Amino acid sequence: AKVHYHKWEITYQYKSPDCLNKLAITINGQTPGPMIYASQGDTIVVEVKNSLLTENTAIHWHGIRQIGTPWMDGTEGVTQCPILPSDTFIYRFVVDRPGTYMYHSHYGMQRSAGLNGMIVVKVPEGFKEPFTYDREYNILLNDWWHNSTYDQATGLLMPENQFKFVGEPQSLLLNGHGRFNCSLAASGSCNSSHPECALLKLTVVPGKTYLLRIASVTSLSALNFEIEGHSLTVVEADGHYVDPFIVKNLNIYSGETYSVLLRADQNPTRNYWLASNVVSRKPGTPTGTGLLNYYRIPHGRLPPTAPPSGPLWNDTYYMMKQSWATRAHPNFNEPPPAKSNRVIILLNTQNRIDGLTRWSVNNVSHDFPHTPYLIAVKNKLRHVFEQKPPPETYDIKNYDINVPPPNRNATRSTAIYKLEFGSVVDVILQNANTQTVNNSETHPWHLHGHDFWVLGSGWGKFNPETDPKNYNLKDPIMKNNVALQPYGWTAIRFKADNPGVWAFHCHIESHFFMGMGIVFEEGVNRLGKLPTSIMGCGKSKVGN
Ligand code: C2O
Ligand code: CU
Repeated sequence: AKVHYHKWEITYQYKSPDCLNKLAITINGQTPGPMIYASQGDTIVVEVKNSLLTENTAIHWHGIRQIGTPWMDGTEGVTQCPILPSDTFIYRFVVDRPGTYMYHSHYGMQRSAGLNGMIVVKVPEGFKEPFTYDREYNILLNDWWHNSTYDQATGLLMPENQFKFVGEPQSLLLNGHGRFNCSLAASGSCNSSHPECALLKLTVVPGKTYLLRIASVTSLSALNFEIEGHSLTVVEADGHYVDPFIVKNLNIYSGETYSVLLRADQNPTRNYWLASNVVSRKPGTPTGTGLLNYYRIPHGRLPPTAPPSGPLWNDTYYMMKQSWATRAHPNFNEPPPAKSNRVIILLNTQNRIDGLTRWSVNNVSHDFPHTPYLIAVKNKLRHVFEQKPPPETYDIKNYDINVPPPNRNATRSTAIYKLEFGSVVDVILQNANTQTVNNSETHPWHLHGHDFWVLGSGWGKFNPETDPKNYNLKDPIMKNNVALQPYGWTAIRFKADNPGVWAFHCHIESHFFMGMGIVFEEGVNRLGKLPTSIMGCGKSKVGN
């Protein structure tokens, strides 16, 4: 196994990813940041120097389980103190499983400001993947706003009557490139021939097959990715091989990754659009585009057609169909334990708490303390977070998921779920109405430190007596990120076998910022001494 060294400096830079110039957080001057490539079993070392003048940071390796290194998960408030301006933090971890992953800041709303990138872990030499291809490409999908993330964060923290949601993004980016219509630019400089907003081009040779590794690091949008005129064969999801299935286009939620096979089998005398469209929210953003360029056709030549506009944004059944089709590849199937030891039911709602709009589970909106949980639990600093455990369920019998929440007993809390080490845990995500009449939103939930089996999903209220009978215990896909559909439920199962403290949260950055997450702890007493590099904030200062 190899060790891959990376030296990163985080700075603000003026960037024009969609032709409009604005401040972005960059790694070595780039957004998205540099690709990380490795092979299974390799060690990655990233020396992060925080050269933001006045902001802390922390970087999370999304999808990497950090087995044995929970302090390298990069989650501020959970696994480490933030990296202070001008400080350097060294991340060092093993990538133990092949697949497509991503990284991003896990501090404030910096992911949205541009601090993100992709990780590709290859299979070891000699290992046969269950498919073949001639070449591979990486595609990182994102959404992009023109106002600053401070502007956005401030709006989210305003009391009810002044509350301002981040709203729909101005652009959709493919590998950091989009194209805003400069004639609409109200302020700032917009230059439609800026090299940073040149469309992404994938060049293909007729008859060849390509593996496209696709990751979505969006802050808000669920996306649908399509290559005009070409079908895609889904072969991997969140680092797990999928029993292959063919789609015309791919739904991808924030925090998800997929690999698809593309065969260059269409008329090779023209180019085709790559298209990224918003789904699951009423789109207010133009299609994000790129070009599939057939070799020998000038790569700047635009297709003679309009870019695909994707499926109907609110066709939830269409989204569900793809989830149901995503199952473990028969040769790599690792079925779940037949039973679980504990079932936690999480009602997802928007609450009004002390005049603020917050997202909650079971009427509790999560607050992150500024002493990281990992340090607090390990060193028994009981006073730094709420010790009374959070609720295991909600009032299933009486709660009406189809109307705005009554906000009964809605609170904020720092409490965490303690899991018995080695136990099998089911989590049922239950969606409900928001504060707006006839509205329920899609939430992509991401678990740190584990993969989970996706046992099932459905509409309406989950019934603990009958719904588990229809769980797929035979070949469910394992993932680290799964969508909860409007007014629906999703059931997952995982083994609490990775000592550490792990966030489980909605991957929509503004929802997480507004409290939509919980934290699991398991087996921290089995860990050796914590590295001092993660300490130094709150009550974790050495000597406290
Ligand atoms: Cu990609 Cu906790 O996030
Ligand atoms: Cu959400």
